Amino acid sequence: MVYKNEINREITEAANTLGREFVVQVTGKVEERSSKNSNLPTGDIEVIADTFSILNRSEVPPFTIEDNTDGGDDLRMKYRYLDLRRPCVRRNLELRHKMAFEIRRYLDAEGFLEIETPILVKSTPEGARDFVVPSRMNPGEFYALPQSPQLFKQLLMVSGYDRYFQIAKCFRDEDLRADRQPEFTQIDCEMSFVEQEDVIRTFEGLVKHIFKYVKGIDFTEAFPRITWADAMQRYGSDKPDIRFGMEFVELNDVAKGKGFSVIDDAELTVGILAKGCANYSRKQIDELTEFVKRPQIGAKGLIYVKFEADGSIKSSVGKFYTEEELRAWGEKAGAEVGDLLLVMTGETMKTRKQLCELRLELGNRLGLRDKNVFAPLWVVDFPLFEWDEETQRFYAMHHPFTSPNPEDIPMLKTDTGKVRATAYDIVVNGTELGGGSIRIHDAALQDQMFELLGFTPERAQEQFGFLMNAFKYGAPPHGGLALGFDRFVSILAGLDTIRDVIAFPKNNSGRDVMNESPSAIDQSQLDELQLELKPSDN
Ligand code: AMO
Repeated sequence: MVYKNEINREITEAANTLGREFVVQVTGKVEERSSKNSNLPTGDIEVIADTFSILNRSEVPPFTIEDNTDGGDDLRMKYRYLDLRRPCVRRNLELRHKMAFEIRRYLDAEGFLEIETPILVKSTPEGARDFVVPSRMNPGEFYALPQSPQLFKQLLMVSGYDRYFQIAKCFRDEDLRADRQPEFTQIDCEMSFVEQEDVIRTFEGLVKHIFKYVKGIDFTEAFPRITWADAMQRYGSDKPDIRFGMEFVELNDVAKGKGFSVIDDAELTVGILAKGCANYSRKQIDELTEFVKRPQIGAKGLIYVKFEADGSIKSSVGKFYTEEELRAWGEKAGAEVGDLLLVMTGETMKTRKQLCELRLELGNRLGLRDKNVFAPLWVVDFPLFEWDEETQRFYAMHHPFTSPNPEDIPMLKTDTGKVRATAYDIVVNGTELGGGSIRIHDAALQDQMFELLGFTPERAQEQFGFLMNAFKYGAPPHGGLALGFDRFVSILAGLDTIRDVIAFPKNNSGRDVMNESPSAIDQSQLDELQLELKPSDN
């Protein structure tokens, strides 16, 4: 090695002691490199150092801090502060920042006021389970963390803040999935003097604004809308992925009454057409059958009808149906030579949900769920109530403040299950991005709603009295919605889980493995809170 001078030698020798992730300070002259390295962001230049110092050393990191890292999930979460240094993770947080910025820009321009609401609130155990916080100053009493700012935003409407929003932290103690965290963020909004159409227009505008200014995608047409009943019938889901067709084809009229008891006794026989898949091997069909039989899906089996290249038909129910009869199934489904019809049969809603899983699985296998394609839509006309077999009572499908469709109010008592809500969800690529409703602002109707939901007047008063009282003082008609911010970011980033767009997420058991929470607390803390732990069984 030839050194230009002594300084140069010292610097080079010091630099040779550097390890990964050291923090250094260099001053010098930036020069164009003679041999450029286009693989490096700084590959066109080099710094001819005058001074050099090591500001901090680093232990060898537990995994390589690069996009393609050798660190597994658990290790990266334990050292999340190192994981966050990886460029691909950083990009997700940059996207999140940019989206939050654009959300505020749009809503500000639309006249919305950002207002914070409390984090220590009253427990109202409807919907998911609450996280609760003991109060030291009020022994034996508890706050809850908000599942959403729902009641507060409605109170703000009563207070005359007629366009509210908040990028709000919400907390729900529920089972976790790829798109669910125990603490997550909503873009929470509420407006007064609006109808469903106004809310949809305003927030479709927000979603379009984000796609345009963050992703460069211009949606010029209105987002499609589908009723809940249609979505269930055509896709078996209230959050259909409409990036691809493969809509359900109901086959009762052509399949029933031919002596095959599995179908004859079933409420619904319904299929989907996989274009060009008649060449699926025995093994591939078996795989799909196993897929629908998994306990999470719980189907008993899968029927196939292949429309072979030579014009013949092969089917798992060939013993029970003539070729002509099966051809009628194909006609209903619009099958052509080379197509594969997959059919399920059973109780209506259950079968639809099972076929929905198969449709999504086939969509994946056939590469029809392209992450660079975005297909938003609104699902409207949700039922107001959901019947629960176990507890033999109705639950609010959305929440107890959702207004019934005015046309259906006369049916509230007589045909409770059929009443439609003025509620809407926005769905993108098979994920529920957000949902909302027009609220009840009339105290008498709200009382009726509580009664139908099995609340005694005393319990309704105890839990929601403050809202009911507020409604006595001139509450304007109002409605709103909340978009899941983490979900929104992860959809735009093309990710499968919202964990990747949250700086410090929890794992699937609700744990933060980095700071090891939740954790036990000192006896002195328990004493101060006047809490005693039950001895555990193990
Ligand atoms: P809802 O319960 O439908 O409505 O929630 C709105 C949106 O929040 C997101 N979301 C979640 N995201 C991550 N993890 C979770 N555990 C989680 N739970 C919900 C979803 C969902 O669409 N107060 C009403 C809104 C309203 O009526 O205005 C509410 O909270 O994207």
